[in-house]
Amino acid sequence: MKENPRVFVSDGMDGLARRAGRDLLAPLRAAADCRVWPHVRPAAREDLREELAEAEGVLCLLTDVLDAELLAGCPDLRVISSISVGVDHIDLDAATSQDIVVGNTPGVLTETTADLAFALLLTAGRRVVEAGDFLRTGAWAKSRWAIDSFVGRDLHGATLGIVGLGPIGQAVARRAQGFGMRVLGWSRSGREVLGVRGVALEQLFAEADFVSLHVALTAETRGLIDARALAAMKPGVVLVNTARGGVIDQPALVEALESGQLGAVGLDVFESEPIDAEHPLLGFPNAVLTPHIGSASVETRVRMVDLAVANLLAGLRGEPLPACANPGAER
Ligand code: GLV
Repeated sequence: MKENPRVFVSDGMDGLARRAGRDLLAPLRAAADCRVWPHVRPAAREDLREELAEAEGVLCLLTDVLDAELLAGCPDLRVISSISVGVDHIDLDAATSQDIVVGNTPGVLTETTADLAFALLLTAGRRVVEAGDFLRTGAWAKSRWAIDSFVGRDLHGATLGIVGLGPIGQAVARRAQGFGMRVLGWSRSGREVLGVRGVALEQLFAEADFVSLHVALTAETRGLIDARALAAMKPGVVLVNTARGGVIDQPALVEALESGQLGAVGLDVFESEPIDAEHPLLGFPNAVLTPHIGSASVETRVRMVDLAVANLLAGLRGEPLPACANPGAER
């Protein structure tokens, strides 16, 4: 590795380091001339442009958009290491054509993200947030226990349709089997998974009582869950998304909630993040909404940072990355 390569880190991650009890960036500081974004506010596009103009490596978050136009202004950049499994915020073709290797963090967040997907299936299905708000606002104290209060949907005995059978979809399937659900699955490659009945998307929509999305956001999956797909689902279906907001046509989703076609939704991701505080989705009591926390456990976030640092160091040394999202760029 060149002595002291210039590296930009778009977030100091002090809070996570405190929780982990160690400096997560220490290996990077030891090997590189490391500039860490010093502000509380996130680095804006113009900041990134400036910071990356002379950088050879960058450790970034899924909120840092590195598109072709921005990358064109980064002549020295050799490695992008994102602390995320999703890389839809990076133009992989542009990076590859500039010989920039891109690292990501698959594997280490699989179970934690599947836990959140399952939490949303349970919470939306059993109306946990809505019922909790009823108690907290004092409404329960002013009324009584009623036989039909907050009746929701059973997971056991119901059919779950998993869209996307990669590692996270498979981890959700294992949980669903433990809960006594019948599991249907669809993947573009037709992948076979033990205990999951592989079906066409149309059949999955027609039969599933719960649908959980686990596809990466690509040109093919953008808007996959559009008005037609929503109309093809069983009336009253519970839809959960922990993948990327762009997989769902959000205005169509709002309409399907308004019409009652959707029984409930559990959404951790949105077309635009953070979601506007005035967004119509916030008005539905049967919409359980969380702020993109799929991988948010201390252990998993630390594993993600460690892997991303290892990716960056390997790339700077000219070695294969432990997890590379554009193997075509590896020399
Ligand atoms: C989270 O959404 C990730 O891509 O890691």
